[in-house]
Amino acid sequence: MKISSAEFVMSNSDVSKCPKDKLPEYAFIGRSNVGKSSLINMLTNKKSLAKTSGRPGKTQLINHFIINKTWFLVDLPGYGYARVSKSAKKVFQKFITTYFSKRTQLVCAFVLVDCRHEPQKIDLEFMQWLGEHQIPFCIIFTKADKLTKTKLPTQINTYINEMLKYWSEMPQYFITSSSSGLGKDEVLAYIDSINSQLKIS
Ligand code: GTP
Ligand code: MG
Repeated sequence: MKISSAEFVMSNSDVSKCPKDKLPEYAFIGRSNVGKSSLINMLTNKKSLAKTSGRPGKTQLINHFIINKTWFLVDLPGYGYARVSKSAKKVFQKFITTYFSKRTQLVCAFVLVDCRHEPQKIDLEFMQWLGEHQIPFCIIFTKADKLTKTKLPTQINTYINEMLKYWSEMPQYFITSSSSGLGKDEVLAYIDSINSQLKIS
């Protein structure tokens, strides 16, 4: 799929104030600093569309970006960021879960995990929660450029084996790098295939 336009629409902390359009949307979620905002910039070929930072906790709101004027990419705050206060964490947690349970336009959640790390409890629990709420999701392994060609498949296999302890099959997954552009075509083709089924293009 060719992205011919990608524009910021609005930021919200309140799900009820998100765009009213009935366009399909795809949300990026995962731990702080995993690379959600960077991946949105990589996919859209726009370096500063979503704000990124080396310090975790950069994205604090629900951010809608409209792509090709027909569908949305949504950048969300990270979960599990240790350095925000407990009360701030609760507010984040609340609007993230509200977003996923209330947003009927959501077609697929992309759960981002850093390919360098062993499976983390918080991610596995979040995917469990998505499953319980029947919210379709894929896994996106990020920062593939940070592992060697031999270490990368080992890490992914470890992850798959852990997932298969809880799931009867491995969800659709993608291996990406926002630095090299790895995985870009695959993620966009996947979104395109869903949009086509929904008769959007
Ligand atoms: P929060 O908004 O804080 O939840 O973080 P985020 O998940 O949006 O992460 P962000 O995109 O801001 O990236 C965090 C840091 O990781 C930045 O310093 C990025 O440059 C870096 N980063 C993101 N993706 C990649 C990648 O694929 N490869 C490498 N080498 N660095 C990356
Ligand atoms: Mg971010």
